[in-house]
Amino acid sequence: MPKLSIRDLDLAHKRVLIRVDFNVPLKDGLITDDTRIRETLPTIEYALRHKAKVILCSHLGRPKGKPVESMSLRPLVARLRQLLEQVLNVSENVAFSPNCVGEIAMELSSQLESGQTLLLENLRFHPGEEANDPAFAAQLAALCDLYVNDAFGSAHRAHASTEGITHFVKQSAAGLLMEKELNFLGKVLTDPDHPFVAIIGGSKISGKIDVVDNLLDKADTLLIGGGMAYTFLNALGQTTGKSLIEADKVGVAKAALDKAKAKGVNLLLPVDHILADKFAADAKTQVFSGNGPFPAEFMALDIGPATIDLFAKEIADAHTILWNGPMGVFELAPFAHGTNAIAELVAANENATTIVGGGDSVAAVHQAGVADRITHISTGGGASLEFLEGKTLPGVAALTDK
Ligand code: 3PG
Repeated sequence: MPKLSIRDLDLAHKRVLIRVDFNVPLKDGLITDDTRIRETLPTIEYALRHKAKVILCSHLGRPKGKPVESMSLRPLVARLRQLLEQVLNVSENVAFSPNCVGEIAMELSSQLESGQTLLLENLRFHPGEEANDPAFAAQLAALCDLYVNDAFGSAHRAHASTEGITHFVKQSAAGLLMEKELNFLGKVLTDPDHPFVAIIGGSKISGKIDVVDNLLDKADTLLIGGGMAYTFLNALGQTTGKSLIEADKVGVAKAALDKAKAKGVNLLLPVDHILADKFAADAKTQVFSGNGPFPAEFMALDIGPATIDLFAKEIADAHTILWNGPMGVFELAPFAHGTNAIAELVAANENATTIVGGGDSVAAVHQAGVADRITHISTGGGASLEFLEGKTLPGVAALTDK
């Protein structure tokens, strides 16, 4: 990595502000999935073991620049204590600052001793965070001697805590999670082991077309499923009943198909479909094969068995597999089969580096019980998409060069 890593810093007895992405799902004040906290533990542990005074900051939700009780980070303190106890055998040393800047944050951060941790309240309770206000960034910088960004999930945001702050601290380095994400996703784009198979799904082509376009320059095979496949099938002249179509994107889909052909990329679309008469778990369903017009009143909500077989062969032969986006309406049980089958198939290829990103595909590998057989599960949603589009992430660009 051309950027400084936390491993390059002299952390001992320094106040180290670590930007983490603790944007975890909360229900009635309880954390329903703590993956993002767990994934930052190696960085926090590293800093604590090297005698840093650790200050953690994050956003949670979108409170729009003012305090919102339900988006407080306070409920995370107990979980953080618990997790740190598991890895470090210390539990008593996590304090909480009810404001991320100002007098109280200054006081608590200056009282920290080496090996102790302070969690700051939600950065987005201040409008300066998202506005990347230099004055707010300077206030954050005043809390620390060194800055570490471990929030890969927020690295596509040019906010005060991800970008602005780097102008006010001497050294800004990547945390271990940030490094891991950039190494895995970076290798996919720059030096993948071939055959490289990318599986792209999700409902809309509009959110993924730049990823598809970039991957057409890198991958050997592109497997396309989910709602977005129907805009592609329309571009090929197939009529698809009431399936989701983005009419204004048919041209874009056609251009991607032409590019695949010109570059010799094996772009595969579903060859059979699970059709439903309504968007509901109790819909009447049928398997539809081939390229003929779908029955007018039906919509496709999942890939069919022949498509799973077709995709399975490509997945089995791959040495790199990148998967982003479900193959169907994964949240409704009758249409989850395609997505779950892909999860199993990706995990079953033990010769490949397998990388999964995006909320639904990540949920699918967990649901299928195969998460521990995936090489890398990205913690970034929007960030991993922007990275795969080939964009520079502001939170990475701002870090100190090596
Ligand atoms: C995410 O959940 O993708 C990140 O935490 C970024 O959140 P945001 O989209 O609200 O900036």
